[in-house]
Amino acid sequence: MPGNLIQWFPGHMALTRRLIKEHLPEVDIVFELLDARIPSSSRNPEIQNLLNGKPSLILLNKADLADPQQNAAFVRALSTDKTKAILVDCKKGKGLEEIRAAASNTLKEKWDRYREKGISKPIRAMVVGIPNVGKSTLINQLAGSKKAQTENRPGVTKTKQWVKAGKDLELLDMPGVLWPKFDDQKTAENLAMTGAIKDSILQSEEIAVLLCGRIAALYPEFLTARYHLAPEDLEKEPYELFLKIGKKRGLLQSRGEVNEPRCAAMLLDEFRSGAIGRITLDTD
Ligand code: G4P
Repeated sequence: MPGNLIQWFPGHMALTRRLIKEHLPEVDIVFELLDARIPSSSRNPEIQNLLNGKPSLILLNKADLADPQQNAAFVRALSTDKTKAILVDCKKGKGLEEIRAAASNTLKEKWDRYREKGISKPIRAMVVGIPNVGKSTLINQLAGSKKAQTENRPGVTKTKQWVKAGKDLELLDMPGVLWPKFDDQKTAENLAMTGAIKDSILQSEEIAVLLCGRIAALYPEFLTARYHLAPEDLEKEPYELFLKIGKKRGLLQSRGEVNEPRCAAMLLDEFRSGAIGRITLDTD
């Protein structure tokens, strides 16, 4: 992992901490978006401290791209008495009603008290998560229109805005991103593989080779099926496996060697779009 990557993070984490603290008093609940393919790696372990008792929901987004069995296991592992974990596919709009219902349910006592006093007001929620996890897509889906500015450049700061999502819900589009703690190699790799870290600051080939090794270990049958490999190909070192896949796909240079940048781009694309299969990289 290139050194500049590690240096790139602390500034963003400090900024996010400040922004969350600053805006927390304005909201009733926090929607913590995690990437269902990497629920542990996409989570900031400090989040509960940062929230300081504020109710929250854990939304495992991109559940459509993740292993269904692991989805169920992570919902069980992450749900607590106070915080419900929900599987979401923001792209297709799946899980949205469950989010609304869980938010109302979590805040029921407080809202019952408001109602007794004749007060009627929407629930205000803050959406936080790593870049590319689907924050804008979630806000757009809940709001039912292209209200949130979709910005697909990881790390880019947006201006704060409130978005109406029906009469009972208002969303604060966080002007920042919530990075996980970035102190181990595997977390960094997982964030790179799933596209949370901009490809241009990474060595895509290195990441794609690592990804080959990971999929070969976790979901070998997906690789053999997708790239017409023989079972013994999976015993190769990840780099050899990567080259084999490049050859199978005919991604060659004029002298017959594998075009490594093209092979890396193809593999990362096919993984991120779900073409290889529904894959969860975090195992606990
Ligand atoms: P962000 O605000 O957190 O940075 O993320 P954003 O909503 O911009 O979403 C990043 C990418 O993830 C988008 O793809 C979006 O369509 C996709 N996405 C969001 N939620 C889901 C989901 O539940 N399932 C799947 N499969 N994809 C999801 P993109 O390639 O940037 O754009 P596009 O191809 O959708 O146009």
